[in-house]
This record gives sequence, structure tokens and C-alpha cells, in this order.
Amino acid sequence: MNEPILKVENLTHIYSPGTPFEMTALDNIDLDIYKGEILGIIGHTGSGKSTLIQHLNALIKPTSGRILLEGRDINESKQSVREVRGKVGLVFQYPEYQLFEETVYRDIAFGPKNMKLDPAEIDRRVRLAARFTGVEESLLERSPFDLSGGQKRRVAIAGVIAMMPEVLVLDEPMAGLDPGGREEIMENIMTYHRETGAAIVIVTHSMEEAASRADRMAVLSHGKVAMTGTPEEVFARGEELRRMGLATPVMTDVADKLRALGVELPGTVYTVEQMVSALMELEGGKRRA
Ligand SMILES: Nc1ncnc2c1ncn2[C@@H]1O[C@H](COP(=O)(O)OP(=O)(O)O)[C@@H](O)[C@H]1O
Ligand SMILES: [Mg+2]
Repeated sequence: MNEPILKVENLTHIYSPGTPFEMTALDNIDLDIYKGEILGIIGHTGSGKSTLIQHLNALIKPTSGRILLEGRDINESKQSVREVRGKVGLVFQYPEYQLFEETVYRDIAFGPKNMKLDPAEIDRRVRLAARFTGVEESLLERSPFDLSGGQKRRVAIAGVIAMMPEVLVLDEPMAGLDPGGREEIMENIMTYHRETGAAIVIVTHSMEEAASRADRMAVLSHGKVAMTGTPEEVFARGEELRRMGLATPVMTDVADKLRALGVELPGTVYTVEQMVSALMELEGGKRRA
């Protein structure tokens, strides 16, 4: 793989240190994020996913350890913090709660304005980001508070995309949406990835989503990186995942059960497509026999 754009080195984060509420949320984490990749981050509730990704654009600071952007410590100076805010865009969980401007247009323009871009460039970016996220032009002059939940979510994501980040980090971007809305948001993110080559870091609860979209996955458990690897490599360790309180993809469970019944299913199976081709292969094998 190519160079890492972000490198997390020995990262520890302790909330409220030295108080009775002291909580080690991240315990000596190492993680590389490569240019242009799609990295899925999964882990049980409280495993440290949100804490980890808030470090990636210097929103919160390490208790110890470093985050390097193209080899440079992002917390080194005001200048380096400014630089990482421009290159690494962070979409919080339920980002629609942070919409506050009078119009959708102004909400999407907020980030680029802070970057001190000229008005023509801001306008270009607002329209581009709206296109990436499927926000129709006719909505731009509306109040964000008049929109549906799914539309608000898209506007909030557009506000980050308008900064044209090289790494787009999203914390459970599909949470709370119906299946149609989830699929649309995912497609919007993928369009941004395809057309700009940006890396995508996506925290998700859905194994199916992680499995079908990610190039690589990182599994967090109790503040540590328990596994990294391709979806194939990670889902091949179904027993360990289940012990960490993580559900494996439905098709992986079905494949495990079929194997337990003596069906010699070939290959790794975690999507419906893979299940179909594994069954076809099996069927073909039988016919040949
Ligand atoms: N602002 C905070 N203050 C104190 N503890 C926190 C704070 N945010 C998160 N934590 C704790 O840190 C741990 C990791 O939380 P978080 O990063 O939100 O995990 P996840 O996103 O995987 O659910 C949890 O035990 C959580 O209760
Ligand atoms: Mg979280």
C-alpha cells in the first residue's frame, strides 16, 4: 500500500485524569491511515471509537502519544492544527444537531468561509458539496430546520465535504436513519471517495456496511486495537469477534452454521454475493463429482 497520510503512534487518552472519574479511553494505540483507502472502524460501545477519531483532526489532544499528518505532529503548533483541520474533515455522530445557520447554503459555507477562501471559491464548493451529498439546489435557500432528518444529515456532511478534506472521517453517519436513507448516505460518501480519491474513515455499527465497503478494518476493544486487516481477514476470526461482543455479518453466521453441518463451503463469506458464488461453486463441484 502507499504512504500513510495519518499515523497514530502510542496514543493514550485518559478522561478526567487524577479524579475519581478517571477513565482510560484509549490505551497505547497504533494505527496507520493510508491515502485514498476506506478504513472501517468497529468496536463495542465504549471501546474508544469516538475518542480515537476526535484525535485525528486535533479536536481533542492525546494524554500521551502523537498523531502525524504526512510525518508531522498535528499538535506541534497553531499552524499544524490549522493545517490538519483543512485536510482531515470530521463528521460527528448526529451532526444535524449542529446545524445553526439561517439557510442551508450558509451552513454548508461555514467551513470554507473559516478557511478564508474567496467568495467565488466558497460558492463553487457549496454547490459541489451539495451535489456530492444529494442536496438539491432548491434546498439551499431554505432553513435547515425545515428539512427532514435525512436531508439535515446530508447538509451536515456537505458542510465538511465543502472543505474538500483529503481524509473524511465519519462517526456512525448512518445511525438513526431508515435503510433507504442509510444506503443514500453511504452512496454519497462513496461518490466523494471515487471522485476525489480522499481517504474515508468510517465508524460503523453495521458489520454488513463495513464488510462491503471497507478496504481495511480496525477493531477496537476496551481502548486497544484488537485487530486490523482486510474484511476477509477480520471476519475469518468470527469467534474472537463474538467474544468481543461484536456481531459478525449475517452471511458469515450462515456460512459458519452450514460448515458446522458439514457443508464444505469454499472461501470467505460475509456478503450475499459471496454466499451466492460459494454455493454456486459448491453446486458446480458436486455436479463434476
Ligand atoms: N467526555 C468524556 N468524559 C469522560 N469519559 C468519556 C467521555 N467521552 C467518552 N468517555 C468514556 O470513554 C470511553 C470510550 O468512549 P467513546 O470513545 O465514546 O467510545 P465509543 O465511541 O466506541 O462508544 C467510554 O468508557 C466512555 O464512557
Ligand atoms: Mg461513539
